[in-house]
Amino acid sequence: MVSKKSRSPFSFSKMVAAKFVTIFILMELIMRGFRFGAVDGLSMDYYIMTCPLADIIVKNTVNSALQNDPTLAAALVRMHFHDCFIEGCDGSILIDSTKDNTAEKDSPGNLSLRGYEIIDDAKEQLEQQCPGVVSCADIVAMASRDAVFWSGGPVYDIPKGRKDGRRSRIEDTINLPFPTFNASELIRAFGQRGFTAQEMVALSGAHTLGVARCSSFKGRLGNGDPTLDSDFAKTLSKTCSAGDNAEQPFDATRNTFDNLYYYTLLTKNGLLFSDQTLYGSPRTRSIVNAYAMNQAMFFFDFQQAMVKMGMLNVKEGSKGEVRGNCRKIN
Ligand code: HEM
Ligand SMILES: *[C@@H]1O[C@H](CO)[C@@H](O)[C@H](O)[C@H]1NC(C)=O
Ligand SMILES: *[C@@H]1O[C@H](CO)[C@@H](O)[C@H](O)[C@H]1NC(C)=O
Repeated sequence: MVSKKSRSPFSFSKMVAAKFVTIFILMELIMRGFRFGAVDGLSMDYYIMTCPLADIIVKNTVNSALQNDPTLAAALVRMHFHDCFIEGCDGSILIDSTKDNTAEKDSPGNLSLRGYEIIDDAKEQLEQQCPGVVSCADIVAMASRDAVFWSGGPVYDIPKGRKDGRRSRIEDTINLPFPTFNASELIRAFGQRGFTAQEMVALSGAHTLGVARCSSFKGRLGNGDPTLDSDFAKTLSKTCSAGDNAEQPFDATRNTFDNLYYYTLLTKNGLLFSDQTLYGSPRTRSIVNAYAMNQAMFFFDFQQAMVKMGMLNVKEGSKGEVRGNCRKIN
């Protein structure tokens, strides 16, 4: 048996050690606090002092929403893309139209974006925990990351500290790439935002999740598009017989993040013209082949490109605000 006497010096030294560890951690936190207080830049631990549970709250909210409806993973990933490509990653996609302003989200066909309630839900919880701290743009970026992981994709951390923008205009959405773009046009559209062709092909791999509606691909039917497999064309015509809003999955595993999307391109089963053209063009074909062959390579490039996309024209410091309600400018 261990006597009380022999145990107490041990637990005393343990207590001292624990105190030192606590002091060390506190000092570390304070130093970090100074570091990101001085610069307005993004950082991985941006909320560590002000809202340490931010990542966990978003992740739990996303996970429980996706458990109820796995198709929303695609919606969250696409929301981040549309947010970043218009006016930078600043939550502008979340703004509701008002009587004086028609917002991005009400552009023709609505862009068929979904999942806004998930962002609202996370925002409400975050406002209770740490009011006025976590931006809507960061919530969208975190939710997109969590949706990728939830559906089987790579796990990655993202820097935080984006501020929310004050502009959301329907006319800005003209800057999104169209599904009718050929490879050169896609390379140019992404190049204008600093992406390489390879990064563009990797980001297009997000189409491993989700669906497109008939209105996005029916232009390919009935004109003998030689880049479209004839049996697949019949499938698409059948889908479209149910109307413009009928949905067709991009690949056979619409809720799973994998590299099957690239494989469909090898067999002319790409859904959008802008998908199939990546295999048709000699400028991008070898990248498609590589990703179809090597999922680990796709995952690695995808996560890097997503982090990069998440930094597009980010508004830092006083250049933006932290909205109280993601649907309204403060
Ligand atoms: C390369 C240029 C791109 C074009 C032309 C394009 C176009 C489209 C179109 C037309 C749809 C279907 C919309 C509908 O019919 O309702 C769609 C869906 C989707 N896009 Fe893209 N996209 C591109 C790149 C991206 C990128 C970079 C991402 C994300 C990183 C992304 C994520 C998605 C997702 C996940 C869906 C499925 C949405 C759902 O099922 O709700 N796309 N895209
Ligand atoms: C816009 O989205 C709402 C639901 O989010 C839907 O009911 C409506 O039909 C959409 N409008 C268009 C033009 O697609
Ligand atoms: C791509 O589209 C542009 C603009 O429509 C056109 O000028 C170009 O020739 C096309 N490129 C190819 C390879 O088809």
